[in-house]
Amino acid sequence: MTHRIALVPGDGIGKEVVPAAARVLDAAGKRFGFDFAWTTFDWSCERYTKTGSMMPADGLEQLRPFEAIFLGAVGFPGVPDHVSLWGLLIPIRRGFHQYINLRPVRLLKGVKSPLANRGPADIDMLIVRENNEGEYSEIGGRLYKGAPEEMAVQQAIFTRKGCDRVMRFAFEQARKRRKHVTSATKSNGIIHSMPYWDERFAAMAAQYPDVKTAQFHIDILAAHFVQHPDWFDVVVGSNLFGDILSDLGPAIAGSIGIAPGGNINPEKEYPSMFEPVHGSAPDIAGKNVANPVAQIWTGAMMLEHLGHADAARAIVGAIEKVVEEGKTVTRDLGGVAGTTEAARAIAALL
Ligand SMILES: NC(=O)c1ccc[n+]([C@@H]2O[C@H](COP(=O)([O-])OP(=O)(O)OC[C@H]3O[C@@H](n4cnc5c(N)ncnc54)[C@H](O)[C@@H]3O)[C@@H](O)[C@H]2O)c1
Repeated sequence: MTHRIALVPGDGIGKEVVPAAARVLDAAGKRFGFDFAWTTFDWSCERYTKTGSMMPADGLEQLRPFEAIFLGAVGFPGVPDHVSLWGLLIPIRRGFHQYINLRPVRLLKGVKSPLANRGPADIDMLIVRENNEGEYSEIGGRLYKGAPEEMAVQQAIFTRKGCDRVMRFAFEQARKRRKHVTSATKSNGIIHSMPYWDERFAAMAAQYPDVKTAQFHIDILAAHFVQHPDWFDVVVGSNLFGDILSDLGPAIAGSIGIAPGGNINPEKEYPSMFEPVHGSAPDIAGKNVANPVAQIWTGAMMLEHLGHADAARAIVGAIEKVVEEGKTVTRDLGGVAGTTEAARAIAALL
């Protein structure tokens, strides 16, 4: 069985961690009886500075035939972040209806949380972020540019379809875990869209009587992540709230360098895109010091999506072992290993 995967390393450390992780996935394939046909695309800020676009105009058509997209990160000094994001990531997430952004957060053995007295049993959650609408919309504009009356309007979009499908996904995930879903809201301050979000959450909860629920305003929810991370199993949030929580989550789990993620089209009508939570880390790019674990774990999520749950488990097991031993980890986890060495240690266990 050969899986056709589009590789988009992107910018900065993406160019280091993506090839390293692809080698680990190759090793997993060898052991579990499948392989990959990788096709690499150079879509990036570098391409933007040369050609004026992050990807070709028919970029989505080029990606459409692939089973999945394995992406590093995009963004680099010199190109505004909204250009790199809206020129590549967001068109793919939207065009391919990847309406779920899935980000597991786990404190691994051997990793020190910045929270005092917290161990692996305390931090194990799944953040389900709405990925297609909400606060990240193109609707809005500016008036009176440059004048003292200058103003900007940004519209947030919350549809019944958009809310229901992400919430349903969260409840289904909870059924496979500890059967608890927390909703991130802000219905005290945002008086139209967030009460609507709460209403849809209550309606969905009624369909899952076996799953317990909680709901917090995003401000106190952020505080609870720090003070009571053990309260959380599945956390569902809008595009903006989910985005913020899924950086806070990995931060309490020790390093953004280990946090995986997937942009998922659950119906598999379009390719899903797997990318770690971290960005292109220009401050450490090109030095072979970036932690490849997030990208490798992201690869395990891709394998699970492709139907190789065994191989995915084996990769996560190998990550856990290498991280717990602590001998071949990168400097963000207190080690001295380089990117390639850390990835090789994980591949060797497969
Ligand atoms: N999905 C994406 O493509 C994505 C996500 C976030 C940020 N970005 C872009 O990346 C660029 C840098 O953004 P940022 O600095 O806010 O976030 P970042 O995640 O790139 O870096 C934040 C900090 O974490 C460290 N870090 C990140 N990944 C690491 C890894 N694998 N190993 C070790 N350390 C790691 C970095 O060195 C940096 O100190 C920006 O252009 C931003 O727009 C892209």
